[in-house]
Amino acid sequence: LERSPLRRLVELVARPGLLSLAGGLPAPELLPAEAHADAAAAVLRQDPRALQYGPPHRPLAAAIVRLLARRGVVADPSSILITTGAQQAIDIACRLLVEPGAAVITERAVYGGIRQSLAVVRPSLSVVGTDLEDGMDVDALARLLEGGVRPSLLYAISDGHNPCGVELSPDKRHRLVELSRQYGFVIVEDDAYGLLSYGAPFAPPLLALAPERVIYIGSLSKILAPSLRVGWMVLPACLYQAAMRIKEAIDLETSALNQRVAARLLAEPQLEAHLTLLRRSYAERLAAMLSALAIHFPERARYTRPRGGMFVWVELPPGYGDTWALLERAIAEENVAFAPERCFAMATPSGRALRLSFSTASPAEIEDGVARLGRLLAGSTRQQ
Ligand SMILES: Cc1ncc(COP(=O)(O)O)c(C=O)c1O
Repeated sequence: LERSPLRRLVELVARPGLLSLAGGLPAPELLPAEAHADAAAAVLRQDPRALQYGPPHRPLAAAIVRLLARRGVVADPSSILITTGAQQAIDIACRLLVEPGAAVITERAVYGGIRQSLAVVRPSLSVVGTDLEDGMDVDALARLLEGGVRPSLLYAISDGHNPCGVELSPDKRHRLVELSRQYGFVIVEDDAYGLLSYGAPFAPPLLALAPERVIYIGSLSKILAPSLRVGWMVLPACLYQAAMRIKEAIDLETSALNQRVAARLLAEPQLEAHLTLLRRSYAERLAAMLSALAIHFPERARYTRPRGGMFVWVELPPGYGDTWALLERAIAEENVAFAPERCFAMATPSGRALRLSFSTASPAEIEDGVARLGRLLAGSTRQQ
């Protein structure tokens, strides 16, 4: 296992006073601390099973079914495996589906957690690009399949893509599912950001189109708190028991206390009010970032215009050097940070891309941070 570049990034950006657009964290002031305190106190006073070993908490599975309904998915509680965060679900999916040397396909730039889980099972990895307008390059995927690649697992982030901020177009969703049926591979769909849409809701996930071909992964980290460590998988019936045995081998079960707290926090109507607050706040930050990019970034920079999630992906025109080196200069000269492409690269990166997070800084800080980066970029071209 190599050290993740994201960990190195975390150290780099830990400097006090640094304006960071690098992290992928939810805004701390939007985590419902009071509601957590009330829910935890009630659970601890009223439910002695909260401190014990125990079976999965059924009311939580029922609450997850309701969350899935918000995403346009009809799911049965018996298909849901509660996990310790989405990261554990990714890990279980990799152990379940991938033998050493088996083919796996991901996009060239994706959430680094999949790389860590794949490193353990040592697959033969192929990558496809991501179109900044409509997501995964499904034509490139079709070419790989026609060329004889037979993946055991394809990893997809259909909505609120980390790091690219794109969403997969409806047409591509259908084609992807058709390919999975034609060539018999399983899609692992990571929907950690699916409830964070800032206009019309996202289209239903791939799970809604092909429940028999998709292992779907969800998480409460981005809407309730990462520290709850509550996520879930929705599995086809034939894979459920094996996934559960892997989960039990890893940690027996997800914290009984946290499962109960989570179930309470997902009760209506508080949940709707909380999601509305999150969406309104993140929408403002996203708007601030997009208008700042239009003003301060080089005209030839290309970037995504997300409708949800927490990230904007920027591809710089040639001439600015590698974005890892640019990050070091951004910190030293402008006291501002972003996440360079290398943190997400599953194959040799172009070196010209970077991820900006709009989740934790205020709209004013975002405007300021993007302006500082724009100044650095303008200075870089003058030097050359
Ligand atoms: C796409 C994606 N999947 C999974 C995770 C991990 O989520 P969790 O905290 O539920 O383990 C993250 C966290 O940033 C993420 O961005």
